[in-house]
Amino acid sequence: MDNFKRTLVTCALPYANGPVHIGHLAGVYVPADIYVRYLRMRGREVLFICGSDEHGVPITIKARQLGCSPQDIVDKYHAVIKKSFEDFGMSFDIYSRTSSKIHGETASAFFLKMYNDGKFIEKESEQYYDTEAKAFLADRYIVGTCPKCGFEGAYGDQCEKCGSTLSPDELINPHSAISGSKPVKRKTKHWYLPLDQYEPWLRKWILEDHKEWKSNVYGQCKSWLDNHLQPRAVTRDLEWGVPVPLKGAEGKVLYVWFDAPIGYISNTRELLPNDWEKWWKSPDTRLINFIGKDNIVFHCIVFPAMLKGYGDGYILPDNVPANEFLNLEGNKISTSRNWAVWLDEYLKDFPGKQDVLRYVLCANAPETQDNDFTWKNFQTRNNSELVAILGNFINRVAVLTGKYFEGKVPCNLKPEKIDSDTLAHIPQIRGEVENSLEHFRFRDALTAALSMARLGNKYLTDTEPWKCAKNDMDRTASILYTALQISADLSIVFAPFLPFTVVKLDKILNTAPLGWDRMDGTGILPAGHQLGEPELLFEKIEDDAIQMQMDKLASAKEANEKRAKEEIEKRPLAAKPECTFEEFQKMDIRIATVIKAEKVPDTDKLLKLTIDTGLDERVIVSGIAGSYPPEQMTGKQICILANLKPRVIRGIESNGMILMAQQPDGTMRIVEPDGNLMNGSQVG
Ligand code: 2FM
Ligand code: ZN
Repeated sequence: MDNFKRTLVTCALPYANGPVHIGHLAGVYVPADIYVRYLRMRGREVLFICGSDEHGVPITIKARQLGCSPQDIVDKYHAVIKKSFEDFGMSFDIYSRTSSKIHGETASAFFLKMYNDGKFIEKESEQYYDTEAKAFLADRYIVGTCPKCGFEGAYGDQCEKCGSTLSPDELINPHSAISGSKPVKRKTKHWYLPLDQYEPWLRKWILEDHKEWKSNVYGQCKSWLDNHLQPRAVTRDLEWGVPVPLKGAEGKVLYVWFDAPIGYISNTRELLPNDWEKWWKSPDTRLINFIGKDNIVFHCIVFPAMLKGYGDGYILPDNVPANEFLNLEGNKISTSRNWAVWLDEYLKDFPGKQDVLRYVLCANAPETQDNDFTWKNFQTRNNSELVAILGNFINRVAVLTGKYFEGKVPCNLKPEKIDSDTLAHIPQIRGEVENSLEHFRFRDALTAALSMARLGNKYLTDTEPWKCAKNDMDRTASILYTALQISADLSIVFAPFLPFTVVKLDKILNTAPLGWDRMDGTGILPAGHQLGEPELLFEKIEDDAIQMQMDKLASAKEANEKRAKEEIEKRPLAAKPECTFEEFQKMDIRIATVIKAEKVPDTDKLLKLTIDTGLDERVIVSGIAGSYPPEQMTGKQICILANLKPRVIRGIESNGMILMAQQPDGTMRIVEPDGNLMNGSQVG
């Protein structure tokens, strides 16, 4: 890393349509926060920008579902998300929002300059339009049957059942999610960013100049570029968003993926109205975008093309350390299926344990591939690593110093080789942590940091100060002196990872936060320095707390299965293939009246019905006894399929079939004629 450069770090702006969960934290925010805290500790000039992404169709859908305005939705979730981030120690310099005035102005001006500079293509295309709701329909607003798996609730952009990416034209029986009506195609005008024109430049900039990017990021970019880029519309027909600042563009807004990344710029402007440009337009600034893998194309291809197209000295991202996805107990995290660990809920169940989650999420970060979060692993990492290694070391050192030296860093030392040998590992571990952090390998960095606590424990086990104290206080003094220096080094090395714990540790050591460069294993705590009170850094997490979380997930799973089943039952069966009028006419459907109804002996469901069809008197055996007792059937008018080939059921010949409709609860209801109709009259 070049020393002279300042670093602008951004985190993907989360959509303000729901709370944040562990997947968000693990993929984007925990690594970014560790990185920024580390840079600050090294005395680097750094700015950390985030905020809520408050536009886009899903927010309008949620508002519609809940019968409120999109603004109500984003107001609610912006506050919830902001609080969760604060609670988990995300040290943003600003957390703003894209519905702010300054963002509207910034995004609008950005579009306008590009427009005036001729950077867009104007194109008319045919889009789906809801004539009842009088609105163009975003792909999400079109629902129909998935051509791949037959799921009837697929969206125009994606089938959530089988995961296929779709276009509205592929949906079978498309209908509007607003009015239910069949949408029509209507012409509309939009502005496109001609990404194809940027392709040669992007190929060079990414594939040649940024070979150091993480392989998952580089690989995804390569695949996009190899498949060639197409112009992308940067405007939409929608009410909610930043209005397109052109005459004749009423009812159109900037596409959310055009305005959201500009949010990084507007939030910087909001924070530093007079000084923001040095962060965005100076070649001395490195821009680092932390994101999840679903955002790669927008940050590596679309946003850089926008910045390049805009010109005016805007810098481009230096690195885009995207993570893969975190799963939960083997399944994809899902907001709609409530398969998630929500940050606000976690804190209710584990108050004060923010760092445990930060630790576990970093240790299991999906850095190179999707990874799994399990509650069992959470417990093990807490009990066997945080409690047994880090917490135990600090506690032993603090308690023994209290016991033998009245809580003061000892003097009168009698050093031995093992002391200096042990301390010699500190700069080496520090180097490993630095190297890993600077290459965005947060798991490795954390493993190295923990190895410093392991080193301390091994040192205590090897030197046994509790035994030494029986006959050699000077040697005991040296051992605890050395162990206390390691403790201070631990407070430095863990500060980016476990900020809340380090505050506690600094209280135990009675020190102010220490700078990164002090971590060299020597003389951080001077002899005679008075420590604070010993306190446990971590506590064991018991099985019942883990069981409670597993039970929560089990009930989410049960509720999902129940809902899925109900949905399937509620949904009318799929349409049958077309039939001709002639085929239909083959069916002889007639009005008839039940003359006599009796149960078929030894059955629960069957009724033997004697009916007057107007043509004859005949017997039909029907499976309706569960819903209709015989006495309710006598005298009832029904519709029957009169020319169905006779069948023998339980030894009784059945001559026809009653027309019935199956209901969501599985019961069959009779289709009754409207009033008293003539027996034998034909239905058709
Ligand atoms: O995927 C998401 O959650 C988006 N809201 C991320 C936007 S990142 C940036 F461009 F604002
Ligand atoms: Zn499907």
